[in-house]
Amino acid sequence: MAGLIFVCIADEPPADFDETAKIFEPYLAPHDLAKTKVAYQQNIIEEGNWKLVMENNRECYHCDGHPELACSLFPTWGLTEGLIPAHLEEVWDRNKEAQSSLEERCRRYGLPYEVVEELDTRIAGIRISRESLDGEGESFSPDGRRLSKKLLGDLRDFRLGRCSMHLQPNSWFHFQSDHVITFGVFPVNEHQTLVRTTWLVADDAEEGVDYDLDKLTYTWKQTNLQDKAFVELCQKGAGSPPTSRALT
Ligand SMILES: [Fe+2]
Repeated sequence: MAGLIFVCIADEPPADFDETAKIFEPYLAPHDLAKTKVAYQQNIIEEGNWKLVMENNRECYHCDGHPELACSLFPTWGLTEGLIPAHLEEVWDRNKEAQSSLEERCRRYGLPYEVVEELDTRIAGIRISRESLDGEGESFSPDGRRLSKKLLGDLRDFRLGRCSMHLQPNSWFHFQSDHVITFGVFPVNEHQTLVRTTWLVADDAEEGVDYDLDKLTYTWKQTNLQDKAFVELCQKGAGSPPTSRALT
C-alpha cells in the first residue's frame, strides 16, 4: 500500500484490507515512499505488554511528558473545545490557527487532510488525517523547521504538518514533507514488546549535506524513551497486586 508492506499471519486475515488501502493511499501517495531510503532504524524493548504500548500511543493526556515532541506536536491532540486545561489554552488557540492555515494549503495542493477514523467498526481499526505542527509547521524539530532539505515525492511545500496514520493492531506512521517515520509494535512475550522505529528520507538526500542524522532522529528518540518509561509504569500498575500472590 503506497510503498508500505503489511504482513498478517492470522488464519483469517481481515477481508477489508483493500478497502482500507483505498482510504489511505490518497494521503500517502504524494510522499512517494518508493523514492525514499532508510536513514535510521531503532529497536527498543519495552518492559510492558504490547497492548499498553498501543494504548499509550493513542492518548495524549501524557503529552506534557514529551518536552521535545511538544515543540512541534501540539500537546492538545485528542482534547476537545471546552475541556482545555488553563495552561494549554494558548496552545489550543495557536493549533486552531495553524490547522486552518494548513487546510488552506492542502486545498491549494489537492492534498486530503480530513480525519478518517474507523477504530471500532473494522477488525483492524484505522485513523488518518493531516494535522498542523507548531512553529514553522514543517517537521518534528525544536522550531518546527524541516529536518531534511529534500522534499518527498511530488510535494511542493515544506509546510504541510504531519500526515498521521494509525493502523491497528500494531502500527502508526507520521508522514512529513521532508521525512517519514514508521512505528511497528511486536509482542516478544506477555510483558515485553519490541518497538521498531524507522526514519525515511528522500533517496537522493545526502547525510551531512541535506540532513543531520542526530537532529533528524532526536525528537522521536527522546519521545520513545519517555513512552517506554510510561508504558513500564503502566505495566507495574497492571501487574499490581503481583499475580504470584495467592488470592484469599
Ligand atoms: Fe507518548
